[in-house]
Amino acid sequence: MSSKKITWKSIVLILGCYKTTYSLEESKKQGSFQRLSLSDISISNSSIQAIEDLSVSLAGSKLYMFNLEELREATHSFSWSNLLGEGGFGPVYKGFVDDKLRHGLKAQPVAVKRLNLDGSQGHREWLAEIIFLGQLRHPHLVKLIGYCCEEEQRLLVYEYMARGSLENQLFRRYSATLPWSTRMKIALGAAKGLAFLHEVDKPVIYRDFKTSNILLDSDYTAKLSDLGLAKDGPEGEETHVTTTCIMGTKGYAAPEYIMSGHLSTKSDVYSYGVVLLELLTGKRVVDKNRPNKEKHLVEWARPILRDQRKVLNIIDSRLEGQFSIKGALKVAALTYKCLSHNPTPRPNMSDVVKILESLQDFDDVIIGPFVYVAVSENGQ
Ligand SMILES: Nc1ncnc2c1ncn2[C@@H]1O[C@H](COP(=O)(O)OP(=O)(O)O)[C@@H](O)[C@H]1O
Ligand SMILES: *[C@@H]1O[C@H](CO)[C@@H](O)[C@H](O)[C@H]1NC(C)=O
Ligand SMILES: *[C@@H]1O[C@H](CO)[C@@H](O)[C@H](O)[C@H]1NC(C)=O
Repeated sequence: MSSKKITWKSIVLILGCYKTTYSLEESKKQGSFQRLSLSDISISNSSIQAIEDLSVSLAGSKLYMFNLEELREATHSFSWSNLLGEGGFGPVYKGFVDDKLRHGLKAQPVAVKRLNLDGSQGHREWLAEIIFLGQLRHPHLVKLIGYCCEEEQRLLVYEYMARGSLENQLFRRYSATLPWSTRMKIALGAAKGLAFLHEVDKPVIYRDFKTSNILLDSDYTAKLSDLGLAKDGPEGEETHVTTTCIMGTKGYAAPEYIMSGHLSTKSDVYSYGVVLLELLTGKRVVDKNRPNKEKHLVEWARPILRDQRKVLNIIDSRLEGQFSIKGALKVAALTYKCLSHNPTPRPNMSDVVKILESLQDFDDVIIGPFVYVAVSENGQ
């Protein structure tokens, strides 16, 4: 077995450099190839058996372990000109790796995230990302290639996503307007990623679904990044897990989660609805610069979403009317359901995927300047 992949030794190193060790709850572990979840790990106890279990579980994940010097070289010494962006947990740099670095490593551009360990969140984020993205692979989840853990340094190496985040593509002032069909492609891709997480044998709640966590590759394939806040979902009969600290992002978090800490896959569906609404309207979820009653996008737009005569008026004006009317009405209705105050009537993500798939090739796009089209009362 290659020593560059996650092996028993590298796990010990991870644990060693954090000075805390982990143990698995024996009862939950049946076969050794069952996916390891974050709840299996408690950041308190140490046992050789636990460390072995962890390494066995991650051995199939094919993650490369890099040292800081190698990543420094790959990113031109973390130079300013390679900076791709700055997230909540630290800066992200563009870099390049190839098989000179590791035998068998594909020559490719990468994104290297350097976590800021000032806050205690940094390490948890780093570990959660390795545990989730190291084991869950899907065309709509960003691929984790490797990691680095050296003394106080924690880094993550991802596949490079050429068009950056949806947030940048949708809201950056000087970027070209995303066409309707591209928005629908992105909505579908992101929905598939979320549906996958919700349907793995131990469901995963993403918890921080928002435009800045949806990354786009050169052909606008959407992939979810940042599983640092993700949480294992409820098991068995339970419908939700209860959390004591509410984490996530203002405007995107579901009402029941904010009020009672109840977290379920349906809280992700709410956040998904917020992103759909941002795609439809081209407006940010919260924007202090908008008139008072429009500051909070959901409050302002939700009543309009179910009014077929008004809803076309809130579609992003930058589209200049170039969108499918049938498609827009369907998406508006879907968005309305996702944003339901009560979690029960919200659709699940596989329902969402089905609906979005059905309208990928609606081509009744109006060409030319936008003319307001009145929809008749019975024009369902
Ligand atoms: N894999 C990647 N490929 C290209 N750009 C990326 C990648 N990951 C992150 N970025 C860029 O770095 C920025 C910050 O990323 P991240 O730390 O994940 O953001 P946040 O904490 O805001 O969710 C992103 O908005 C994006 O522009
Ligand atoms: C770790 O777990 C073992 C049994 O699993 C227990 O005997 C021991 O006291 C625990 N140690 C700590 C520090 O909690
Ligand atoms: C999603 O909900 C539909 C009903 O709307 C149900 O038939 C289906 O089994 C659900 N899928 C999952 C994966 O929960």
